[in-house]
Amino acid sequence: MTPIYQTSTYAQESPGKHKGYEYARTQNPTRHVLQTNLAALENGKAGICFGSGMAAMDAILRLLNPGDEIISTNDLYGGSYRLMTKVYERFGVKAHFIDLNDSQLLEEKINKNTKLIWVETPTNPMLNVIDVRAVCKIAQKHDILTCVDNTFASPYLQTPLDLGADIVVHSATKYLGGHSDVVLGAIVVKDEQLAEQLYFLQNAVGAIPGPQDCFLILRGIKTLHLRVERSCKNAKKIAKYLQGHPKVGNVYYPGFKSHPGHKVAKEQMRDFGAMVSFDLQHDVFEDAIKVMSNTKLFTLAESLGGVESLIGHPATMTHASIPREERLKVGLTDSLIRLSIGVEDVDDLIDDLEKAFVFL
Ligand SMILES: Cc1ncc(COP(=O)(O)O)c(C=O)c1O
Repeated sequence: MTPIYQTSTYAQESPGKHKGYEYARTQNPTRHVLQTNLAALENGKAGICFGSGMAAMDAILRLLNPGDEIISTNDLYGGSYRLMTKVYERFGVKAHFIDLNDSQLLEEKINKNTKLIWVETPTNPMLNVIDVRAVCKIAQKHDILTCVDNTFASPYLQTPLDLGADIVVHSATKYLGGHSDVVLGAIVVKDEQLAEQLYFLQNAVGAIPGPQDCFLILRGIKTLHLRVERSCKNAKKIAKYLQGHPKVGNVYYPGFKSHPGHKVAKEQMRDFGAMVSFDLQHDVFEDAIKVMSNTKLFTLAESLGGVESLIGHPATMTHASIPREERLKVGLTDSLIRLSIGVEDVDDLIDDLEKAFVFL
């Protein structure tokens, strides 16, 4: 097993002559193995790890300068929205949030200041699918970088660099770790110059992960295929169950033929993922609270991608930083419930939901 190099510094041969490692903010052997592993998983050239998914995203946004603009999907992780609007806007970086599947709108929004297109697919929590190839084609025409947040799919289901993206970012806290026991972020790129800039930021800013956490992600990755395969299988059954339930309103799952992104998902993903969102008939906030307070197997918690199933309320939890009128525009209603389906027995999971619906 890759050892956990729990050290802050490394003995040097003579002044100025080290053995490849000088100081642990700059390099760490456990981190190095993880970075190489992630680069391979995403078919990239370089992996660069950070203390969290947000720290990884922050490093990407630090590539920009005041006056630069970002075009992002209008349905994205609340923390990503917050970083762009509450932090980077203060430094003169402007973000626009649009439907990235609307190519005409995307072309209209692009101007000489546009430097980055931020894609998240499938999106959180509405499970919209963005056509990565189509977005990258437009971006390349205008010499703009495209970054894909691949957290929801994991590299097992989707490899955005193969679809034309320049940068892939992960909250490795989710599927890569897979056991809800570590927070870590990762970037993978294929361009060496871009990699150098990001390694520079990793060291210069210093938002690095610890070696123990790198070890845990490495261990998680060993079962990524098994976990994701089983979770996807469970999700398929649960989505169908929800669709047929009289107390459920809309069910959002890219595996449905009726899902607007189904065709694209089939082309760019190897399966449809293990995230399912749904809202309730009559969209009453209190009803959603009743369901979420009465599941026993689904744990009420933020996050996703672990072996254990989680249930969450985006409006008050992960997406609380997005104004209500903004979230309603994209279908993120008051009763929307998000499920991260794990690897448990699927009939037990369905039974758990069935019992919670009785409280409505
Ligand atoms: C899609 C997505 N991107 C990024 C993040 C941020 O990652 P972290 O919590 O590891 O900082 C999250 C966290 O929930 C996420 O869901």
